[in-house]
Amino acid sequence: MPLTMTYGRPSPQSAVETVHAALDAGVTLFDTADMYGVGANERLLGRALGGHRDEVTIATKLGIVALPGVGIPVGLNARPERVRKCVEGSLRRLGTDRIDLLYLHRVDPSVPIEETIGAMAELVSEGSVRELGVCEVTAELLERANAVHRLAALQSEWSLFSRDVESGPLQAARRLGLAVVAYSPLGRGMLTGDPGSTTRLSLLDVRRFLPRWRGKNLQRNLDMVEVVRNVADAHSCTPAQVALAWLLNKGHDVVPIPGTSSPRHLRANLAALDVMLTKQDTARLDRLEAHGARARASDARSPCDAVGSQAIS
Ligand SMILES: NC(=O)c1ccc[n+]([C@@H]2O[C@H](COP(=O)([O-])OP(=O)(O)OC[C@H]3O[C@@H](n4cnc5c(N)ncnc54)[C@H](OP(=O)(O)O)[C@@H]3O)[C@@H](O)[C@H]2O)c1
Repeated sequence: MPLTMTYGRPSPQSAVETVHAALDAGVTLFDTADMYGVGANERLLGRALGGHRDEVTIATKLGIVALPGVGIPVGLNARPERVRKCVEGSLRRLGTDRIDLLYLHRVDPSVPIEETIGAMAELVSEGSVRELGVCEVTAELLERANAVHRLAALQSEWSLFSRDVESGPLQAARRLGLAVVAYSPLGRGMLTGDPGSTTRLSLLDVRRFLPRWRGKNLQRNLDMVEVVRNVADAHSCTPAQVALAWLLNKGHDVVPIPGTSSPRHLRANLAALDVMLTKQDTARLDRLEAHGARARASDARSPCDAVGSQAIS
């Protein structure tokens, strides 16, 4: 859920209402990160969950350094001595005594992944963290991380628009028996077909700077969304629901985490569970390919996470 500042800045009230709507609908997984809104996202989630803490799984992340005040990612720091400090901050902001799933948000190339995961594993043995995961890693790094401490999940961008994970990391995650958490499953909103996701973007909306939202790429990508809409029309559902159903079809180990700050969108996204795509639909959707890189070249070390959001799946 882009609760704080990602794709514009939603009102805190609608963000809290969305968390409550999620709880009412039986959602149990909430995804945040220490850099989302530079802690504001974790604070909001902790407050909104209130007495429901024990009914849910809270996933948060560390490793990206964000510019205070603005939340723009400015670097990576996953040094072992920083890991404990990050977790203490997350626990305080979330108002809890444990993190259910702690991800390494991005691998810090200046630190061997074994050292970062080793420091995270210490917190598991102490009880302040329950499970570990990693985001956006290669198959090799996933195996190395898992060799230090058994992981629970790989989180990567995965959608009809972003298929990189399918060439290596997905197979490695399956070999290791990990859950595969698909972030930005709606292509950062574009796959919903909602014109608001491509036009009228606010000055604070990170998508203004992404290659897929620019010039010819944008037009070609919108043409692809028409294919998704076509499939959706045949099922009397929405393009967003088709995008989620396509991921859900990829296996029981796949957990899409659509982000929203709207109770209405939340409920609509959950209804994707009832959409049954045919083999022909899936084959048609499988052929789609987005135009333009999914991140700016300057984000190469932390692809696509020029974002601050919370997801509920
Ligand atoms: N590990 C990582 O590096 C990483 C990186 C990025 C994201 N994530 C996680 O993944 C989550 C989801 O990714 P995301 O938020 O980037 O992208 P996303 O889920 O692909 O798309 C979110 C966008 O779609 C819109 N939307 C959602 N449901 C909609 C619907 N039914 N109809 C129309 N618009 C709809 C949202 O706007 P509204 O608020 O108006 O609904 C928002 O602008 C994030 O919240 C975050 O927790 C992780």
